[in-house]
Amino acid sequence: MESISLKEKEKIIIVDFGSQFTKLIARRIREYGVLSEILNLKDFKNLNYSNYIKGIIFSGGPDTVVNKKIPNISRKIIKNNIPILGICFGLQLITKLFGGQVESKRKKREFGKAILRKNKNSTLTENFFTNDTSNVWMSHQDAVTRMPKYFTRIASTKDSPFTIIENVEKKIYGIQFHPEVTHTSKGKIIFKNFLFKICKIKPQWKIRSLKKQLIENIRNTVKEDNVICALSGGVDSSVAAILINKAIGKNLKCIMVDTGLLRKNEFKFTYKELKKKHNLNIKVINASHIYLKKLVNISDPERKRKIIGETFIKIFEKYSYKIKNVKYLAQGTLYPDIIESKSSTGSKTSKIKSHHNVGGLPKKMRFRLLEPLKDLFKDEVRNLGKELGLAANIREKHPFPGPGLAIRIIGKIDKRKIKLLQEADDIFTKSLIKYGLYKKIWQAYAALLPIKTVGVMGDSRTYEYMCLLRAVKSQDGMTANFYHFSKNFQETISNKIINNVPGINRVVYDISSKPPSTIELE
Ligand code: XMP
Repeated sequence: MESISLKEKEKIIIVDFGSQFTKLIARRIREYGVLSEILNLKDFKNLNYSNYIKGIIFSGGPDTVVNKKIPNISRKIIKNNIPILGICFGLQLITKLFGGQVESKRKKREFGKAILRKNKNSTLTENFFTNDTSNVWMSHQDAVTRMPKYFTRIASTKDSPFTIIENVEKKIYGIQFHPEVTHTSKGKIIFKNFLFKICKIKPQWKIRSLKKQLIENIRNTVKEDNVICALSGGVDSSVAAILINKAIGKNLKCIMVDTGLLRKNEFKFTYKELKKKHNLNIKVINASHIYLKKLVNISDPERKRKIIGETFIKIFEKYSYKIKNVKYLAQGTLYPDIIESKSSTGSKTSKIKSHHNVGGLPKKMRFRLLEPLKDLFKDEVRNLGKELGLAANIREKHPFPGPGLAIRIIGKIDKRKIKLLQEADDIFTKSLIKYGLYKKIWQAYAALLPIKTVGVMGDSRTYEYMCLLRAVKSQDGMTANFYHFSKNFQETISNKIINNVPGINRVVYDISSKPPSTIELE
């Protein structure tokens, strides 16, 4: 499917040289309300220049310009005086294109944090330095060793003498570090300066334009064919399905499998919202008894995950084969899901947990994938959900794992434990919302531990389960810190859960961060 693009609007062209961060560059630009279009080198070479193109960014990439024929870029760009910003490989390419020198610097390669020192003022770096230094994030082993003629050095690090260079007259800028990643403390300022002070582009891009464009892209891709979609109840698949429904209406057939492992009332609420309010064509399959039966006596986390994944695929296959002429399988894949599945170093990453997304592609099925959200980040999908009128409590929900509550009930699972956990989790969530904490926390949930302890309620002895609460702050789920609740909140929530959930007589709070722990317990 086409990437996000808009015709006849001022935009920035991003030329993708294969960096894992190219989409992050586009995202930073969208954050400033500016439209960008990502092109590969071939499409870039065939690009028709118009006044709508206000700037060009060359991304980083795994390639080298050392001892290699370098790609040519059209002289038209230079002639039209369109501003260019080269990032990492982009800087090295600019250097070679204009006659400078780049060398391989194995011994002086820079990976990770580096301290950048200012040599000279530049429009690109206005407000970027504090006391003439700034923390930046590097990932390179080739480096510029001689600037091209008519370029000026703006900043350097200990190991890279030409970390930022510019040719003001031609409006060409090159930077060795990655301003698009959050580890570069003030990276956004570089984009802001480039967009508004150098390219002088107007912020015209809105989430509404994105909605219109995505719907148009879906229509152009799918045409008269049928699409099936597994609705998990989460924000990603809901937003994807609403968009597709807007594009092709009843040719979208949704399947909602009730695993019985969602949060309290979640399945019912989501079904009602999507069916009644958004008019989706949904087939509901009540499979909670199947899941319970298959999970009986299973306590190993990986086995639980495997059983749940396979059960889902079987059910999904059975029902989807009943629908005729299906060409596409819709999924709410987001951009970070794609990054996570690739290794940033090219090496095989070790499997910590086998992730399961409800809606994961059954291997045997021969559908084409339709992934309308694949260029977007979670917060952008939430905004898009708002634009589409999706209820706030679906849109703003914390992340939830595919295997659901099964991996939050440690050890063996049964119906009563699921019910206990749903009640405790519901009280926790409602309290977080009531005290204005829900949106401050990236993910929070209750888990049920397979331990019974003694308590006393009234004059009687109790011997009941222990509930664990977990709440973390995180950017992307890859790393996380536990949230510090006030003593008052801790007291309130512990009382509420114990008083209202017979079967739980003790509440503990998880004070571990990731790494070394993970966010989920299993
Ligand atoms: P961990 O526990 O690995 O979790 O630190 C990181 C994030 O991923 C979520 N998670 C999953 N999401 N299918 C999913 O779609 C899964 O199987 C799965 N397991 C964990 C977890 O909730 C957290 O947000």
